Amino acid sequence: MNVLVYSGEGTSRTSLAHTVRTLKALVGHHYDVMKIDAKGLLTEPWEESTSLLVIPGGRDLPYTRDLNGAVNNKIRAYVQAGGRFWGICAGAYYSSSQVLFEPGTPMEVQGPRDLKFFGGECRGVVYPGFVYDSEQGANAVEIQLSAELSKEPLGFERTRVYFNGGGYFVNAETYPDTEVLSWYTDNNGLESVPSHGSTGAKASMIACTVGQGLALLTGVHPEYDASHLDAGNPEYGPLPNVVSRLLEQDKERVLLLRSLLTRLGLKLTQQEPQATLTNSGSDIELPPGAIQGIPDLTSLYLASTRPAITQELTRSLKSLVTGAGLIKEANDTFQLIDSPQHAAPFHTPTLSEGADGEGEEKVIKNIVLCPEGAPSGNLTPQFTMDTFFTHLQQLRSTSFNGGQLHFGDSLLYGQVVTSTQTMLDKNFALCQKLPNGFVCNATTQVAGRGRGRNSWISAPGCLQFSMVLRHPVQARHASAVFVQYLVALAVVEAVCSMPGYEDVPLKLKWPNDIYAEAPIEDGSERKMIKIGGVLVNSNFSGSEFLLVIGCGVNTTNPNPTTSINHLIRHHNKVTGKNLALLSQETLLAKILVKLEKMYNQFLEGDRTGFAQFEHLYYKRWLHTDAYVTLTTLTPHRKVRIQGITLDYGLLRTVAVDEQGRDVAGEEFRLQPDGNSFDMLKGLISQKA
Ligand code: BTN
Repeated sequence: MNVLVYSGEGTSRTSLAHTVRTLKALVGHHYDVMKIDAKGLLTEPWEESTSLLVIPGGRDLPYTRDLNGAVNNKIRAYVQAGGRFWGICAGAYYSSSQVLFEPGTPMEVQGPRDLKFFGGECRGVVYPGFVYDSEQGANAVEIQLSAELSKEPLGFERTRVYFNGGGYFVNAETYPDTEVLSWYTDNNGLESVPSHGSTGAKASMIACTVGQGLALLTGVHPEYDASHLDAGNPEYGPLPNVVSRLLEQDKERVLLLRSLLTRLGLKLTQQEPQATLTNSGSDIELPPGAIQGIPDLTSLYLASTRPAITQELTRSLKSLVTGAGLIKEANDTFQLIDSPQHAAPFHTPTLSEGADGEGEEKVIKNIVLCPEGAPSGNLTPQFTMDTFFTHLQQLRSTSFNGGQLHFGDSLLYGQVVTSTQTMLDKNFALCQKLPNGFVCNATTQVAGRGRGRNSWISAPGCLQFSMVLRHPVQARHASAVFVQYLVALAVVEAVCSMPGYEDVPLKLKWPNDIYAEAPIEDGSERKMIKIGGVLVNSNFSGSEFLLVIGCGVNTTNPNPTTSINHLIRHHNKVTGKNLALLSQETLLAKILVKLEKMYNQFLEGDRTGFAQFEHLYYKRWLHTDAYVTLTTLTPHRKVRIQGITLDYGLLRTVAVDEQGRDVAGEEFRLQPDGNSFDMLKGLISQKA
């Protein structure tokens, strides 16, 4: 299920960034948090798969222009039928029946609104000083929670939250189906705001029952994470110390938010402990952001199987460094650090507007060069680069032609990164400098990407890496479209081709998902579940496709679905074998060696490309002779899956009649990228 956040003209990039980041942190792997624009809301059938729709802060006039009419009708019908909605600041003005904003000033906006989740008027701004696209009116305001909200498990009555231009819900307590959740109580030295209980108290957060559904409207911004605001920003408000005042009550803010989201029916991640232990056993403060479950980005370490490779790569990377000593790339800015001795473990990111409206981590990413070889395991406690290189060399040494294998020779590892895929794929100049087989891997990705519009939730215990592959354009017999199939196959083969591991139940789902047969426990049913996936992005560079292959596969953690080690453990239990479990380091080495051998064979001119792997691919996939319904055709057609075409890598299917017999001459071929395949329902449909 999804949590959708509206992103369109008028949405403030900062509010959008905080909304997405905070929601991702709080809902974890339970939901996919995605942005959606007006066109998506209008044309996509999002309602069925959406647990919460959020309209964040910004300006409400563009919202009325782009959403009035058909989109609002869909939103209202969705909520009335039991959907959940959250309007924040401008989103809260917008979803009230009437707006009155800064009357008598050049910024004045007033008029009726369509959604009418709150029957009355949202009037603002409550605290003066607001300026569009600025932090000048930003404030850390205190709100008083309703008795209902403040009782256990919350257990406090007041907290401070970020405010910038918000309104209050006029006489909210008198409207039916409206519950006031909090009031503005803070006079902040600015004006006298009546306190809760006295006449005229201003409601700052309300919950409105709409048919079967629920709408939360907040004039304040509880989604703002102060640890990702720039405390040094000279624009911060008429009052000093907005950021530090927010930080003092950040724990309460997070608890409040959890309580609000729980009311909206969302499942949340487990609460983080307030402190963690160092190796020496003493308590330390969590890094900023960690209290919500999103850790801060860490340094990236660059090492190779041989020092000469790192030296060569360093020379190449240094050619990208500009006057400021930085590599300023299209998506990220990097700084080269000459050795691990000079590295700081964390960066402290500041979340703010990005050029494309994305929440951008305004952080300079440190690349720590390790010219002497892999950094000490203390610096990268969750992945020992040296162990990985040792496995890689060992596997190569036992392989025919192993001396000619190079994938994984250089490795860029970060414990916490945005996305290994984005760092390579969206920074073209940098990527062009990287050698064939260069790998970037991470223990945690805070913004992992999946295929299409999906995000990739970085579950603990997942092996996740991206690799640069320079694929020759002229290799006509070996089209780049097959690379995704080869990678998925290499992951399965890396495990199942080891002696003893042949029956570990790993499978492929077309085009490139890795599935596992979940261990049957306590009478549970046989079930195939996704355990990993592959993503390939491509760019042109001269006579090559510069491919970035991304792969994620759950290796060690049985949650949230299952993991390779869980399968192995279960297999051992059932068969009495004692097969060794796999570490991230071993599995990565195995996949890379397997992939490189397969890829080299694929490229060899006279062996006719993917045909050599066709049989193996079918042995591993889940679809031999499977019947599915193509909803891409009108009327829908039932077809039998036959295989993959050897020219363009399309899924080959043949129509079947009522009895399931092939209808001669009625073949359909499907693109791996344009279709989504729901195995449970036996449907192949066009990707939305
Ligand atoms: C999918 O199943 O949709 C493909 C998932 C690919 C995820 C990997 S994890 C490593 C790399 N970094 C990303 O952000 N995505 C890929």
